[in-house]
Amino acid sequence: MMSVNELTIRRPDDWHAHLRDGSMLRAVAEWTARDFGRAIVMPNVVPPATTVSDAADYRQRVLDALPEGCDFEPLMTLYLTESTTPEEIDRAASSGFVKAVKLFPAGATTNSDNGVRDIDRVMPVLERMAETGMVLSVHGEVTDQDVDIFDREAVFVDQVLDPLRRRLPELRIVLEHVTSAHGVEYVLSADRNLAATITPHHLVLTRSHILSGGIHPHYYCLPVAKGPEDRKAIRCAAVSGDARFFFGSDSAPHPDAAKMRAAGSAGIFNAPTALACVAAVFEEEGSLDTLETFVAMSGPAFYNLQANSSRITLCRREHPVAIPERIMTEDGPVTIFDPGFALYWQVEGRDGQDNTTF
Ligand code: NCD
Ligand code: ZN
Repeated sequence: MMSVNELTIRRPDDWHAHLRDGSMLRAVAEWTARDFGRAIVMPNVVPPATTVSDAADYRQRVLDALPEGCDFEPLMTLYLTESTTPEEIDRAASSGFVKAVKLFPAGATTNSDNGVRDIDRVMPVLERMAETGMVLSVHGEVTDQDVDIFDREAVFVDQVLDPLRRRLPELRIVLEHVTSAHGVEYVLSADRNLAATITPHHLVLTRSHILSGGIHPHYYCLPVAKGPEDRKAIRCAAVSGDARFFFGSDSAPHPDAAKMRAAGSAGIFNAPTALACVAAVFEEEGSLDTLETFVAMSGPAFYNLQANSSRITLCRREHPVAIPERIMTEDGPVTIFDPGFALYWQVEGRDGQDNTTF
């Protein structure tokens, strides 16, 4: 087969990113804006962005953190709590810049304490979302300590997601950062209103990367990486061209000090290497022809948005691209995701600006 060294595709977007706030936001925003036209910005900042007004303020802080002249567009989300009202959903739907509402089961992950304990308590809000077409973005893990951590996604799918979809088939849902073969199979079984994002690190890692040859805190995130069969299912889904699976980095920076302490934080900062990692995986799978679908087309289609109008050119360098190990921030160093193999793909250029709403 002829090897491809240059690939021109629509400018990609990131359909799941944690850009943080304050000095961390100012340190990381440019890395997401460098390779991606838009990102769905997760609302688990402190305090969480629970209202349209919070999201508007947060959006402005993101724009202020970007380099001069940057045409990156943050797509905002609301953090669903048991106090969210259906009226807030109406405001979100008419805002134009709130594109999803995020369901964190309380206690499931970083800054999820204000999340949902009992799904029955948010049913009126979910019903309004189904009526208005607002997307529900889901962290799909149960929090029951008696459920094995590697089974928490599968149990969530069976005990929470499937019953919810039966109750509200019109609700449009993204199962974020799918990590299990069971999750992939469930998405494949749905013919409408369900999609999943896939991260670069879950395309690459299994739990052995985290736990063998010493413990690797920089590979720890939630949902935790699973076994080889799960990774295979995720890879197949990503390269398949199936519009139900699209790219979401789940880039989630934590200062190294927080990652390295005894109860280290969950989250992998991958914005600088995400696109190069995904391109490497697609190349390995012999599927560079579906890369554009995965990173630039299927996400906007699910969110009823146009794909970006500009195009980027990815080049495969002859030698590995030099990637810094970490970035420096006011909160200390933050390690960049290293997939454990050399990266050759790099964005060479872009042909113009994209239409933005600001
Ligand atoms: C995310 C974070 O740090 O905000 N962490 C993670 O491990 N992915 C939260 C999340 O998406 O679960
Ligand atoms: Zn996340």
